[in-house]
Amino acid sequence: MIVTIDGPAGAGKSSVARRLAARLGFRFLDTGAMYRAVAWAATRRAISWDDDHAIEDLAARLPLTFDGQRVLVGDQDVTESIRSPEVTAVTRHVADNVRARAHLVDLQRRLACGQDIVTEGRDQGTVAFPDAACKFFLTASPAERARRRQAELAARGQPVTLADVLAQQEQRDQRDQTRAVGALAPAPDARIVPTDGMTLDQVVDQLESLVRAYLPQAQP
Ligand code: DC
Repeated sequence: MIVTIDGPAGAGKSSVARRLAARLGFRFLDTGAMYRAVAWAATRRAISWDDDHAIEDLAARLPLTFDGQRVLVGDQDVTESIRSPEVTAVTRHVADNVRARAHLVDLQRRLACGQDIVTEGRDQGTVAFPDAACKFFLTASPAERARRRQAELAARGQPVTLADVLAQQEQRDQRDQTRAVGALAPAPDARIVPTDGMTLDQVVDQLESLVRAYLPQAQP
């Protein structure tokens, strides 16, 4: 069974998806990590962001694997490095590359094949898994999302002002929503889940009970 969770940056998708997957005993797929890993690798190889073919080629060939909570490129653990502000700032060049997206969507489908999986991103319910059994679209107000992001960065030792987070968030929203392919949008059959004022566990509780309603009787 496939459960998709899409939504804007800072809506809490990763934390919710990870915890929901653990509760259900499903695999968890962080698709943003794929775009980030390609961007990280392109930077390491000094690939020009104007070189669409090289970016596409890298997305097609990068030896990207997930080992539990860790993200690996070859045998190198990139879990932390792909979350740096530098990588965050350039990942859009990969996300905007239509052919690179096609390779990554293909990889997402291969990883999900025959699995019970919770997958999160921007286009999981619309492009990658249009036939998924359960689709969610997490939202939160811009102010709440920025506060969460600021707290997350502070916890990682990267203090930033709320005004800076809000400005960057606005830019990312704009890019995510207007991307030619894989734009951020709820699938027509997605359940919209507003999360303002809710704790992580309250959101996960809500999603878990909705998913369990779809599960066969054998899985209480
Ligand atoms: O969720 P995140 O911040 O880790 O995503 C990193 C970038 O990748 C962000 O710019 C949006 C993009 N992305 C995407 O275009 N499609 C996805 N399925 C997941 C992420």
